[in-house]
Amino acid sequence: MCTTKLWFIPDPPIINTFHFVLIFVLILGSVIQHSSQNEFIGNYSNSHLSHVPHHLSPKTTVLDLSLNNITEIQIEDFKLLPKLRVLILSHNRIQHLNISVFKFNQDLEYLDLSHNNLWDISCHLLMNLIHLDLSFNEFEFLPICEEFSNLSQLDFLGLSAKRIQKSDLLPVSHLNLSNILLDLERFGGAKDKLETLPVLNTKKLQIIFPPNRAFFMQLNISVNNLRSLQITNINLNNDKCSVFTDFLSKVIHNSKSLNLTLYHIEDTWKCFVEILQFLWHKPIEYLYIYNLTLVGKIGFELFTYNETLLKGLKIEFINIKVYIFLQSNIYNIFSNMNINMLTITDSRMLHMSCPFKPSPFQYLNFANNLFPDTIFPDCKNLSLLQTLILQKNKLTHLSKIAGMTEKMKSLKHLDLSQNSISYDEEKKNCSWSESLLVLNLSSNELTESVFRCLPPSITVLDLYRNKIKSIPKNISNLESLQELNIAFNFLVDLPGCSTFSSLSVLIIQHNSVSHPSAHFFNSCQNIKSLQAEDNPFLCTCELREFSKNMATLSSQVVSGWPHSYKCAFPDNYKGTHLKDFHLSPLSCNIVLLLITIVIVVLVFVIVTTFFCVYFDLPWYLRMIFQWARMRRRARNIPLDELEKEVQFHAFISYSELDSPWVKHELLPNLEQEEIRICLHERNFVPGKSIVENIINCIEKSHKSIFVLSPNFIQSEWCHYELYFAHHKLFHERSDNLILILLEPIPQYNIPAKYHKLKALMARRTYLEWPKEKGKQALFWANIRAAFNRKLTLVEEANDVEII
Ligand SMILES: *[C@@H]1O[C@H](CO)[C@@H](O)[C@H](O)[C@H]1NC(C)=O
Repeated sequence: MCTTKLWFIPDPPIINTFHFVLIFVLILGSVIQHSSQNEFIGNYSNSHLSHVPHHLSPKTTVLDLSLNNITEIQIEDFKLLPKLRVLILSHNRIQHLNISVFKFNQDLEYLDLSHNNLWDISCHLLMNLIHLDLSFNEFEFLPICEEFSNLSQLDFLGLSAKRIQKSDLLPVSHLNLSNILLDLERFGGAKDKLETLPVLNTKKLQIIFPPNRAFFMQLNISVNNLRSLQITNINLNNDKCSVFTDFLSKVIHNSKSLNLTLYHIEDTWKCFVEILQFLWHKPIEYLYIYNLTLVGKIGFELFTYNETLLKGLKIEFINIKVYIFLQSNIYNIFSNMNINMLTITDSRMLHMSCPFKPSPFQYLNFANNLFPDTIFPDCKNLSLLQTLILQKNKLTHLSKIAGMTEKMKSLKHLDLSQNSISYDEEKKNCSWSESLLVLNLSSNELTESVFRCLPPSITVLDLYRNKIKSIPKNISNLESLQELNIAFNFLVDLPGCSTFSSLSVLIIQHNSVSHPSAHFFNSCQNIKSLQAEDNPFLCTCELREFSKNMATLSSQVVSGWPHSYKCAFPDNYKGTHLKDFHLSPLSCNIVLLLITIVIVVLVFVIVTTFFCVYFDLPWYLRMIFQWARMRRRARNIPLDELEKEVQFHAFISYSELDSPWVKHELLPNLEQEEIRICLHERNFVPGKSIVENIINCIEKSHKSIFVLSPNFIQSEWCHYELYFAHHKLFHERSDNLILILLEPIPQYNIPAKYHKLKALMARRTYLEWPKEKGKQALFWANIRAAFNRKLTLVEEANDVEII
């Protein structure tokens, strides 16, 4: 796409390598006394200096003292800088220069003294000078000494003078220069006669005439080898066009192909056309005009276009100071030019007409004008046009612009950026030029409907900064599209590549993409570059796939990864880099989560059932719970209980039928733990009834153990009911009651009148005697836990005495 490049380079590349190195070095040397491998740079530009600083390093090779208030330079200033190669003193106030101040700087190659107040120069040999700039000073005559003829290395020479004599230029006339800058801003003329100067040898000549003064010339300048001519300040509003064309024809007399640049022309339209007409048949390849002011009146001018060497004309800034004129007088001259490239920018042009016959234009640039949609309507004569730039105009309707291109059979690149273009779907079809490859629609008013009005052949599409919210599903395929810039829109997702099957570059930064779908990475296999920064990413489960995919692409593919990709929501992840955002697979996969829960519940149920069925888990749990409760109670016996005088740890009541168990199991187990037991038949007090004996036993014991079984209920319980009825005490001391359930008692077996027993059974505060051997240890542990060993017992003997 070579034609897309800007074709005009005002300064052709005749700057030699030295200058490139120098410019490079100067850019590098932005730090004061910065040293690189070979250069030692002192940058004192714009430092309010009134004299050259004294503490400079003797190693200094490049010294920039521009933009200061230095009025004088002396030999001492540079004496200790033997290595100095580059010295920039421009924009100071130096009045007098004796080149011998550089006596000790024999390596000096580059000396810039432009923009000072120099009016006097005394010369001294500086053999190595390559660049010497004395322009924009106050010299009366050209500051050229005899010695200049020996400057065989000299490449650039900048001069200024108020008057010129033929002899002044003689010393340099034989030198082969690249560039002469002749500043004649304060030129007063050469008295009366026309002065013919010696022929100069330079590739580039820049002449600056006095601004705000009618062009007049009493100098005949002719140059050999000229490739580039730049003339500044051409004021011809006195309509003396021939003065200028005469002057030009002498200067370019010997050149074969030339780039001509004219800065700041003021003239009439008639004169301007005359100059163009003059140049049309001269050996000029590129003509660049910057800042053209048209005055007087604008009428119809004839122009003869036949054979020209001119390839390109570029005009920037046309300022028309004529208010009433026929627009076509201007348009027709330009649109019918038989050249390849035409640029007219920044000129408030309202229109441009279609060439009258097939035009050789390949490149047209009308950026920053006022062109409306009606430009080039139905224009068949631009069939060679490849590049059309209509950036920053007044275009509004996409379908009309599409229609404009229809007949441009070679159009490849169309720049419509920075207009106010929108597309109304109701309008009829868009018929674009079929050759179009690059379409720039950036900075317009387009919405998603634009995708229904695009040339199917495009490879590069720029939709930067529009109002697109989505990419419609049912649009025709843009199969050739390789580069899509859709940054600064309002898209909420990445476009997949089903519609753009060749997409390799996607720029989508600064949209509203919050949870990009994984579809993009599945469908876009050819992506070579992706820019998706500055989107408000929503960091949830869905985003993990995206950031995983991004991380796998290399950083050459994804620009700004990982630093420019951050979570915007939810608040607790705000600012986190996508790279560092992780969520567990479980919290993101609902199926996985459900399966896990079901499995866990299932395992729990199975294990519980297993334990219940095979190990009687509820029994164990109940026992352990009771054990814990008993221990706690045993520990926290209130003080008054501890102090109460009792003889036994416990009293045991049981049915006679259960006595084998009590005698062989319970008693041995308790007494082995040194728990003293009161048995009513063993500790029998003669003369008392059984009930009295039992009650006596209860009162002398800290705890009461009842061995419950169906037998017990039938035979014994009644004894206690009586007691319970009379002694509230039993209520209050129910903590001291231990119920052992030797055999299960079905509820219906308990007679209705035994309320207390029913209540106790219902509270399930009894210990079950397990038949299985394995469980019995826990049973005994439970019993033991009910007793507090700190309890002090009184001797039994007392009791006997009472009786
Ligand atoms: C489109 O035009 C803009 C200027 O308006 C420019 O910055 C951008 O690079 C152009 N895009 C392409 C693809 O040339």
